[in-house]
Amino acid sequence: MDTFIIQGGVPLHGEIPISGAKNAVLPILAATLLTSEPCVIRRVPDLSDVHFMGKILRSLGASFTFENGTVKVHAKRVRDKGDYDLIRKMRGSICILGPLLARKGKANVSMPGGCVIGTRPIDLHLKGLRALSAKLDIKEGYIQAKSRKLQGNEIFLGGRVGPTVLGTANIMMAATLAEGVTIIESAACEPEVVDLAHFLISMGAKIQGAGTPRIVVTGAEELHGAEHDVIPDRIEAATYAIAAAATNGEVTLTDMRCDHLAAVLDKMREAGVRFEARGSSLKILPGGEIHAVDVSTQPYTGFPTDAQAQLMTLMLRAQGLSIITERIFESRFMHANELARLGADIAIEGPSAIIRGGKELSGAEVMASDLRASAALVIAGLMCSGRTQVNRIYHLDRGYEVMDKKLRKLGARVKRTKEK
Ligand code: EPZ
Repeated sequence: MDTFIIQGGVPLHGEIPISGAKNAVLPILAATLLTSEPCVIRRVPDLSDVHFMGKILRSLGASFTFENGTVKVHAKRVRDKGDYDLIRKMRGSICILGPLLARKGKANVSMPGGCVIGTRPIDLHLKGLRALSAKLDIKEGYIQAKSRKLQGNEIFLGGRVGPTVLGTANIMMAATLAEGVTIIESAACEPEVVDLAHFLISMGAKIQGAGTPRIVVTGAEELHGAEHDVIPDRIEAATYAIAAAATNGEVTLTDMRCDHLAAVLDKMREAGVRFEARGSSLKILPGGEIHAVDVSTQPYTGFPTDAQAQLMTLMLRAQGLSIITERIFESRFMHANELARLGADIAIEGPSAIIRGGKELSGAEVMASDLRASAALVIAGLMCSGRTQVNRIYHLDRGYEVMDKKLRKLGARVKRTKEK
């Protein structure tokens, strides 16, 4: 397994482009199942999750090619059952259920795995599909879905902590080929949901209200092929912005969308980070005196849970006590114990982490546990003096395109090696 060796203590400096958004690409790739015509998706990041989704699409009978950031998918004919092992291993694969059911009238998709950050239920996905008149059974680890023809309906899709991103994606995709009108109340408003809606509309779907809590879909007979450029990855941008601030560096991020990062930029400003936000570029400046903040993760447009671990790492530099409360997932503080190995002083009290900043940090060997926790450990390694080894980097490769190369371009001393 790959590992990162980091010689920290070097302020990042320079300029890097932000890649396409992983969490937009995965549902958009699933949406290509809705048409028998070819689709072209550009600005696709070279991530293991993307290649995994490609394997799943191939296991369903579609053709899938990836070359220089452009994906070509042609689901001319599709099977209604995917490869159990593949689908089980990646949570994002649940979003093939809606399009497959809408296209084929039946779908057999394995129950998605949970992961370290929480149980990751799919009750809202199933509730939405049942509301569209699908018959659903769970047998031998498979969700077996059937429907002669999906029927539009009014669906409240909010869960115990608010909207569901992939649940909204699944139901919106299924509704594009349902009979009649579907209204999704308490829909997720994330930019990735809006990007998916734009792709579906370019395929001929009739969708209004994407980006608001009320999405209205008018079913069509069929959808046609389309081309699409994926939006920039706001979480990758947040990660590098925080890494620049954490190392007191001067870094410009390009090809991004500052308007997708309002909550993150607001919190960074409050924490004393100096920056210039200019639409599609963000310049982080050195010299800010970092101080403690209090933040809770929320559905969009609130502070994103996917940037929580990274912010915690920045707070290790802050004077005073910071409080970070995780409201979306039940166990998303796995990085706290690993940060403690570097000298961090973090107490977990229920859904909140209390960070006593300003401690001397020194490099150590740490273990990545999930995608965003691994990013936080890399940032911490960049901040520490001395050598930090981050093991199980495969977590990072799921969601960050060539992170070691991008960091080296910013002057970081990061080397990818094999874990001994
Ligand atoms: C998406 O996951 C993202 N993944 C996650 O990013 C992100 O953290 C999450 O949205 C929240 O923003 C992709 O888009 C591939 P949810 P998703 O359904 O859709 C509960 C990353 O690091 N819930 O919005 O699976 C759920 O338990 C990943 O890039 C139900 O109760 O998340 C959670 O508490 C991690 N029932 C909350 O809703 C359901 O049926 C939000 O989950 C579905 C979800």
